Amino acid sequence: MCGIVGYIGNQDAGGILLTGLSNLEYRGYDSAGIALQNADGVHVFKEKGRIAALRKIVDPDVHATLGIGHTRWATHGEPNRRNAHPHQSASGRFTIVHNGVIDNYNLLKKQYLTGVAFHSDTDTEVIVQLIEHFVNDGMGVEEALRKTLKRAEGSYAIALLDRENDDTLYVAKNKSPLLIGLGDGFNVVASDATAMIQQTKQYVELMDEEIVALTRDGYTIKDLDGHRKTRSPYTVSFDARDTEKGAYPHYMLKEIDEQPAVLRRLLQKYEDKNGTLAIDPAIARAISEADRLYIVACGTSYHAGLVGKELIERIAQVPTEVHISSEFSYNTPLLSKNPLFIFISQSGETADSRSVLVKVKKMGHPTLTLTNVEGSTLCREADYKMLLHAGPEIAVASTKAYTAQIAVLAFIAIAAAEKKKIKLDFDPIHELSLVAQAMERMIDQKALLKEIARRYLSVTRNAFYIGRGIDYYVCQEAALKLKEVSYIQAEGFAGGELKHGTIALIEDGTPVLAFATQENVNNSIRSNVQEVSTRGAYTCIISMEGVTDKPGDQIVLPKVHRFLTPLVCAIPLQLIAYYAALQNECDVDKPRNLAKSVTVE
Ligand code: M6R
Repeated sequence: MCGIVGYIGNQDAGGILLTGLSNLEYRGYDSAGIALQNADGVHVFKEKGRIAALRKIVDPDVHATLGIGHTRWATHGEPNRRNAHPHQSASGRFTIVHNGVIDNYNLLKKQYLTGVAFHSDTDTEVIVQLIEHFVNDGMGVEEALRKTLKRAEGSYAIALLDRENDDTLYVAKNKSPLLIGLGDGFNVVASDATAMIQQTKQYVELMDEEIVALTRDGYTIKDLDGHRKTRSPYTVSFDARDTEKGAYPHYMLKEIDEQPAVLRRLLQKYEDKNGTLAIDPAIARAISEADRLYIVACGTSYHAGLVGKELIERIAQVPTEVHISSEFSYNTPLLSKNPLFIFISQSGETADSRSVLVKVKKMGHPTLTLTNVEGSTLCREADYKMLLHAGPEIAVASTKAYTAQIAVLAFIAIAAAEKKKIKLDFDPIHELSLVAQAMERMIDQKALLKEIARRYLSVTRNAFYIGRGIDYYVCQEAALKLKEVSYIQAEGFAGGELKHGTIALIEDGTPVLAFATQENVNNSIRSNVQEVSTRGAYTCIISMEGVTDKPGDQIVLPKVHRFLTPLVCAIPLQLIAYYAALQNECDVDKPRNLAKSVTVE
C-alpha cells in the first residue's frame, strides 16, 4: 500500500526516482508524484493515475541530486491529483511522502494546526504541517520531526525534504516498511529493495520508531528520543534482472511459468547432505513441542494455509487450525496450551498478519514466519523463519508464492512426521520432482487453457469452482484468482454444499468448473457436476491422469501424489484466470483497487 523512494547523491535524481516508482508501482497505482530539490527550491510534480502519467508531466529541465517520490493506494482522500503525494507545509519549506495511516490526524489538526490552510484531504499533510509548526516554535528540524512522530498514532514510513538543507534527506518509520540503500557517493530510500535494485544491493533495515538523517555519504539512525542506533547492512540475494519482465507481456505470466523452477530451487535449499528434506532443527523442535499449530494469513497465503493444514494433519498428525489474520484479533479462538503460530505472507509486511504476530508474541507464544522477503517485518519479528525462495513476485496476483508456500508447508509436514517417527508412504523429494515436471506439462498446455477461458468465461459475469477435500481449498484460490484479475464474480464451493443453497444460482449457461483430483471423492464430485449440469450449468472437469480421469474430461492433469495435487492444480487455475483477464481487457498485473503489499489494517 503506497510505495516510497528517495535519493541523495550526485546523479540526476528525477530519472532514478521515476524508475524506482515504476518498480514499486505494484504497491499502489491511484496517483504518483515526485519532489526534486535543487538550488532553486523544491519542484513538485504529481498526477492522478499511473507512473506513466507522471512521467509525462515531469519537467526534463529540472535537475536535482536530491528528491523523494511516492506511488499511492488511497486511504484518506479521493485518489486525485490534490491528494497525491508529495505534500508540503504551509511555507513550502518541508515536503513529505508517506505510506501508512495516521489514526489521530484530526485530533492533531485541532490541537496544533487551527488556522493552517490545508491543501489536501490526507492524514499525511498533518505531519508535514506539524513539523513546520514545531520548527516555527524554534525547534531544530530533527527535534520537530521527533516531536511530531511521538504524537502521531498509527503507521508511517516517511521521507522528508527540508528546502533549507540540500545535504540531508530525513526518513522515519513505524509499522510501515522502509529500507535505506547504500551506494558509493549516494544513498537511497525505498519501501522495498526491488525499487532501488538498479542502484544498489546493500540495504539497512529500519526498526519501528526510528529516524534516519541520510546524507550523500552516510546515515545516522536514532530512536524517537534521539539515541543513536547502529545496524549493519545486508546484501539482497536477487538482482535487477529478477525484477524484469523480459519477453513476457505480463509479470503474472512470467511468474506462473517460473513455478517449476521455484519448486526445484526449494528442493535444493531444503535438501540436506544425506539427500533428504530437512528444516532448521530448532523449527522441527518447536513444532514437536506444540500441541496445536495455528496458521494465520490473508488472501492467497490463507488459501495456501488451508492446504498446509491438510498436509500437516494427514502427514504428521499434528492438529492445525487456519485463521484469517484480520478476523483473528476479534475472533480469537480458544487457544491450546502450547500453540505454535505460523504466519504465511509473501511480502512479510501484511499489517493484519503483523498485528496478530504482535498480539501472540505478547502472550508469549512461539512464532514462525513463512515469507518470500528476507528482512521483512514478519520475518524479523517472528522467532523462526522459513524463506519461500520464489524470487521477487511483482504481479499483484500471487502465483509462484502460493505454490512455494504449499511446498514449504509440505516440508514442515514431512519434518514433523519424521520427528514423530511416522513412516511416510512416499519419497518426498522424488514426488516433488514429479510435481515440477507435471507443472511444466500444464504450462505447455497454454493453448488448451486459453481455449477453456474463451469457452467458459468469455460472456459470463459469474462462475463457480467446486471441489471436495483438498480440491475445495484449491477452488477457493481458483475463485480468488479469477475474480481479482478478470473481475468475474467467482466463488469456490465444497461440492457437497451446493444443494444447501448455492445451487439456486445455477441457471442456463452458468460456468461451473470442478476440480476432481482425489480418488476417494471422485464419484461424489462427479455427482455434483451432474446436479448442476442438469440445471443448465456449463460444466468443465479438471481431473487427474490415471486416478480420477474419465473420457470427455476437459482438462486432465498429470498424475502426482494425492497430497501434492494442489501444486499442479495451481497452474490451470492461474492460467485460466490470466486468459479470462486478457479477454476482459483487464490490467492483469495491476487489477483495479488492489495493491500488492497490504500494509494498512
Ligand atoms: O503478502 P501476503 O502474502 O501477506 O499478502 C496476502 C494477500 O494480500 C495476498 O495473497 C492477496 O490476496 C493477493 N492479491 C492474492 O493474489
